[in-house]
Amino acid sequence: MIELTQVLSDEHQNILKVIGALKKECQAIENGRPVDQEFFATAIDFIRNYADKFHHAKEEDILFKAMCQDDVAMHCNPVDQMLHEHDLGRNYVKNLEEGLNQNNINDILMNARGYAYLLEDHISKEDNILYPMADQVLSLEKQQAIKRDFETAESVKFGPEVKEKYLSLVKIFEERI
Ligand SMILES: [Fe+2]
Ligand SMILES: [Fe+2]
Repeated sequence: MIELTQVLSDEHQNILKVIGALKKECQAIENGRPVDQEFFATAIDFIRNYADKFHHAKEEDILFKAMCQDDVAMHCNPVDQMLHEHDLGRNYVKNLEEGLNQNNINDILMNARGYAYLLEDHISKEDNILYPMADQVLSLEKQQAIKRDFETAESVKFGPEVKEKYLSLVKIFEERI
């Protein structure tokens, strides 16, 4: 057992911490705190680079592709729905950014919360349904190859400094939860 999907579930825990801070910030704004543009800019940077380019790219470019190969037997394929939810998330973030540029509090709250709830639900589906399915249907050989591809993708796209940068951001967000 090489626990292929454990690395992705661990990344979910980091993403959930940032989402927790995002939800708390929304509550504070609703209670009268002015919009902290810097907080949101940092959250968007994290979401776009760590949650999307770093984590979702491993799912989309490597794991999901492997699960959709003809010789992988799955009685239902949740990959399309997962891809759709990644796109919905990107839309929320784009609209959040526009809301921030216009200082439109309703748009900021609606899109930040929309993203938070979408991702919480998405992560729960992956952790509880899709990843266990992947661990079950992919041969050990395939899992080993995917794990190597994950490592290559990380080092080619990010490198250790960038990964460290985002992990230290998680700690800062964690203090705000
Ligand atoms: Fe995903
Ligand atoms: Fe995920």
